[in-house]
Amino acid sequence: LYGQSSVRLETPQQEQIISRHIYGHFAEHLGRCIYDGFYVGEKNDSIPHSDGVRKDVIEALKNLNIPNLRWPGGCFADTYHWKDGVGPKAQRPAIVNNWWGGVTEDNSFGTHDFLNMCELLGAEPYLAGNVGSGEVQELADWVQYVNFKGESPMSDWRRKNGRQEPWKVKFWGVGNEAWGCGGNMTADYYTDIYRKYATFMSDWTNGSGLYRIASGANSADYNWTETLMKKIPSGLMKGMGLHHYAVINWDNKGSATQYSEEEYFKTMKSAWFMNELVEKNIAIMDKYDPKGLVDLIVDEWGGWYAVEPGTNPGFLYQQNTMRDAMIAGMTLNIFNNHARRVKMANLAQAVNVLQAVILTEGKNMILTPTYHVMEMYKVHQDAKLIPISLQSTDFEFNQKKIPAVSVSASQDKQGRTHISLVNIDPKKNNKVRVDLGSVKAAKISGRILTAENLRDYNSFKKPTTIKPVVYNKAKVVNGGAIEVDIPAFSVIVLELI
Ligand code: AHR
Repeated sequence: LYGQSSVRLETPQQEQIISRHIYGHFAEHLGRCIYDGFYVGEKNDSIPHSDGVRKDVIEALKNLNIPNLRWPGGCFADTYHWKDGVGPKAQRPAIVNNWWGGVTEDNSFGTHDFLNMCELLGAEPYLAGNVGSGEVQELADWVQYVNFKGESPMSDWRRKNGRQEPWKVKFWGVGNEAWGCGGNMTADYYTDIYRKYATFMSDWTNGSGLYRIASGANSADYNWTETLMKKIPSGLMKGMGLHHYAVINWDNKGSATQYSEEEYFKTMKSAWFMNELVEKNIAIMDKYDPKGLVDLIVDEWGGWYAVEPGTNPGFLYQQNTMRDAMIAGMTLNIFNNHARRVKMANLAQAVNVLQAVILTEGKNMILTPTYHVMEMYKVHQDAKLIPISLQSTDFEFNQKKIPAVSVSASQDKQGRTHISLVNIDPKKNNKVRVDLGSVKAAKISGRILTAENLRDYNSFKKPTTIKPVVYNKAKVVNGGAIEVDIPAFSVIVLELI
């Protein structure tokens, strides 16, 4: 049984660049993401590290061209007091991680550790400020501490703590999930709070600019978006957030690996809902900001399931199967195709938490199917979007339907065209005819990510069950078109030169 779809590469009316920041990540003080994930401590002599940060993790993320990393939360951000995380480590006070497992942390991974790690990664830091339980002055001080070159109490303190030059952090979140763990605020109340905080977060960068990001809506809360867009001047807000997770049911999320076809369908439906969310948010933004001064920042997304059996329920540790590869491929196609407004996104989360790209266990590290999708798609970073029109057959379950195929395309600076195609149908191949329009295809190469079974994953015993391999079955057909036969639950990225 085959699905049959068609896609046409269009000529753009206006050039759009797919911001590399769409391929961003998120690292919260949550479970084993920071401690025992990224950071194993300076004194660790069994795992190779650089100032306590795992070298294998750094190399793997560099290989993704990781563009940015959001920290320290999440919900944790609105409990975090940055001043407790600088200065001599032995003198730092502890913090109880109230949101995630109630564990006591020693604050040994703080501002310097994070920002220096971003330098190692070649990623731009995205700091989420504490608005919920913090003070305006505390956040204003943080900006001055990390960004001010001249003499001031905060920059002098930074130098005393060992860092001469400012880090010039551009991306700043003004709170997180202000409608929930960030303070249970109403949209109106948060709007006023936002304006106040943003005002005192001075731009100390000497002109390179502070990019303030508002805590955005919880999934389909369009009133939140509407209120922020109506009431916050664009000069104070460069980005507006949006959080949406692919989840079956918040009260019964289901296993990450042992899921039924119905659960698979429901997860994919929830992931596909991102398309509607992005389009409806953009429509509201276009109404209040026709010049496009404010960007849409999807600073949390990904699949969320029950934790792995036997692990701490507060640590959100889950395995990652081909279902996750499907979420990643489809969602990144959605973001690419809405590159006009979506300028940043952060997959939740980078290491050992939720839809992680990397899992660690002692000395060992594995790359998940999601990692491989991110790696295959990195060719789209900062490339020119090629708009598409797509007719896809449906993936149907119990008379409910979602499109089986998603596609996005771009042209990089060397003139190479890349087309990423995803078929989420768990049973049927899909034959996709790609009408190339004005794109030439003298040579076609490609890679595919698939597996024998939908529920396959990379484990510490079998770390390479799922990995991309060469795909050379794209056929040139009449009239400037190619045909791609995408196997069930597969991601293909083609290169045309
Ligand atoms: O990513 C896990 C949590 O999900 C974050 O801390 C929070 O912002 C969201 O609810």
